[in-house]
Amino acid sequence: MPKTSGEPRDAIEMLTDDHKRVQKLFKRFEKIEREDEDSLRDLVDRAIAELQVHSMLEEELFYPAVRAQISDDEAEDLLNEADVEHESVDELIAKLQELEAGDPMYSAYFTVLTEYVKHHVREEEKELFPRVRKLQDLDLEQLGRDMQTRREDLKSEAAADEADDERAAANARSADSDDELEDEEERTPTKH
Ligand SMILES: [Fe+2]
Ligand SMILES: [Fe+2]
Repeated sequence: MPKTSGEPRDAIEMLTDDHKRVQKLFKRFEKIEREDEDSLRDLVDRAIAELQVHSMLEEELFYPAVRAQISDDEAEDLLNEADVEHESVDELIAKLQELEAGDPMYSAYFTVLTEYVKHHVREEEKELFPRVRKLQDLDLEQLGRDMQTRREDLKSEAAADEADDERAAANARSADSDDELEDEEERTPTKH
């Protein structure tokens, strides 16, 4: 049985579930026809949305909580590397958001993104998380609850943004279909 999203969970379990979800999307990407631009864009957008929420939870809550508890240099190195890896992934996401799904580089950028993320996930799951589990003073269940709350907030923000976008698109459509006079006025600079 899948866990319900409202259930309080241990932070590491939650992050590991996120990793699995995103990697499932990566698997689907391998099978998708590159010419099927709609499906491609849809899948890439979903993966990006998953990754952005996940990164935010780690950057805002998980990593700082871990950083506050660790004392050895090696663990600190891992966290610093994680920050750099997140940065690289963010750059690839920004690039993908600029490109059309039909662009020949679109799949290339996404493929490299999947490789970076897979590498990063491996490091977290094999190196970082086992160390974090050993931190006596870190309450992973409380952290999991905090992360869940933040996730719900982000979800409602995203839904509100989407509604705004839809409204804006609808307004733009009705403005277009109004008449072209207004357009004319806007375009005509004061030429005297
Ligand atoms: Fe991460
Ligand atoms: Fe992660």
